Amino acid sequence: MSCRILVLNGPNLNLLGTRETDVYGTATLESILADVRRMAADHAIEVYDVQSNSEGELIDALQDARTRADGVIFNPGAYTHYSIALRDAIASVDLPVVETHLSNVHARETFRHTSVVSAVCLGVIAGFGPRSYLLALDALLDHLDR
Ligand code: DQA
Repeated sequence: MSCRILVLNGPNLNLLGTRETDVYGTATLESILADVRRMAADHAIEVYDVQSNSEGELIDALQDARTRADGVIFNPGAYTHYSIALRDAIASVDLPVVETHLSNVHARETFRHTSVVSAVCLGVIAGFGPRSYLLALDALLDHLDR
């Protein structure tokens, strides 16, 4: 199976490693991406990644993925909870998108219990730290293989 996956990360995820380590742990985004790339290589899958703190750039990356990727692992960060624009972008691109979170958002503040993007995603993985990204890749590959 020849395929390409976009790993898309939203606001403040560039600070992983030093950001609220009690919640997110000490792994950096680069080390998480290295693990994803390693797992992808084992499956002969190509991965590219985009991180942005801007809603518009995340939308551009999703639109760009229409012709560059077969699926998306997406951690929208705080935009998860209120960005209708990102929700509409996911719904518009006709690609399987796995909503991915390091933390278990349902065990945190009530404002994090709502996701405006879940309904247009293939599925949601949350709460497994850096491993959430690998679980998301596994789920995406399984879906694309079918
Ligand atoms: C997060 C959870 C969000 O609520 C938060 O705003 C983030 C990170 C996670 O990966 O656990 O930035 O998406």
